[in-house]
Amino acid sequence: MSKSVLIIGGTGYLGGKVINHLLSRGAKVFALVRESSDTKGLESKGVQIIRGDLSKPETLVPALKNIDTVISTAIGYSNRKKGDNLKSVDDLGNRNLIDALKEAKTKRFVFTSVLNVHQAESVPHFWQKKLIEDYMDQKGVPYIALRPGAFLDQTPKNDFYAGGLKKGSLKVMGSTSVKWTYILSDDVAKYLATAALDDSIPLGRIDIGMNEPMNAEMLAKYASEYTGMPIKVSALPWALIGSVFSFAGLFKPEMADLKKMFDYMFTGRYVADTSLQQKYFGEVPTVKESVFRYCQQIGLTRSAS
Ligand SMILES: NC(=O)c1ccc[n+]([C@@H]2O[C@H](COP(=O)([O-])OP(=O)(O)OC[C@H]3O[C@@H](n4cnc5c(N)ncnc54)[C@H](OP(=O)(O)O)[C@@H]3O)[C@@H](O)[C@H]2O)c1
Repeated sequence: MSKSVLIIGGTGYLGGKVINHLLSRGAKVFALVRESSDTKGLESKGVQIIRGDLSKPETLVPALKNIDTVISTAIGYSNRKKGDNLKSVDDLGNRNLIDALKEAKTKRFVFTSVLNVHQAESVPHFWQKKLIEDYMDQKGVPYIALRPGAFLDQTPKNDFYAGGLKKGSLKVMGSTSVKWTYILSDDVAKYLATAALDDSIPLGRIDIGMNEPMNAEMLAKYASEYTGMPIKVSALPWALIGSVFSFAGLFKPEMADLKKMFDYMFTGRYVADTSLQQKYFGEVPTVKESVFRYCQQIGLTRSAS
């Protein structure tokens, strides 16, 4: 019998891709969506809409009725809507959800975390994920936390690399040589759907990434191999840009958070151990093949040779 899966965050960038994977695998898909959000796109795909809000605990337990598995990709720190922030959604909203999962005795919860958050106390939006993982342990909620590295394909608005690769001149923040783990968002979505549907995948935390960490030089090298065109790589001075981020952070906390995130990533510690990913989800995508897919996604033309 097909599973009933409730997704929270289904109107977002990653959540939409998760829904596509769930539907292609025959799941009955429900999406918890706020009153203010447009659901036409989801409804046209056959997703059943349940109105609710992580900030409104009274909407959550009813939404979990007759649901086998819950997936959350929701976040507030990206300030998608007025009033969303780290405290209201990622902290209090997630705690409301976990309390509701406990009360409804939901059997499986798949949480979108972030790679190596246990090492990242200095980065507020990473550390918040760790605190939520801890809260789930404390409450005894049965969960799988997938911990992806950085998305190589950020949303088109936030894409760090597409513009530079298209122009043949890739300018990156701070360093061209420090490596960290990346992953394509569609691979994360596929793993989230699998973790929800396949009960043989045990509860716990799983690092998610490509087969090895990557730096800007590798990105340019593989993108250049894809297009057949040279790509120049250079680093923007982090001391200067970081100070601008810190100053902007006085008014917009997410800018200070971003500065701390890059500081942490430049330590070279944002690197996945993909052994569990390989064990439960199969062959880990290689850096080269992932960069090729990314190039295709952003519309670069493949060289004939
Ligand atoms: N980008 C990366 O490199 C990276 C790396 C590792 C992990 N991640 C994780 O991957 C996920 C990516 O998210 P994304 O890019 O898909 O985010 P997004 O596009 O900003 O979407 C956020 C979603 O959360 C929903 N939401 C926010 N507040 C809510 C509330 N109070 N109640 C119910 N739903 C609420 C939004 O719904 P509305 O339509 O109502 O606004 C939207 O569907 C996040 O968990 C992030 O931490 C990202």
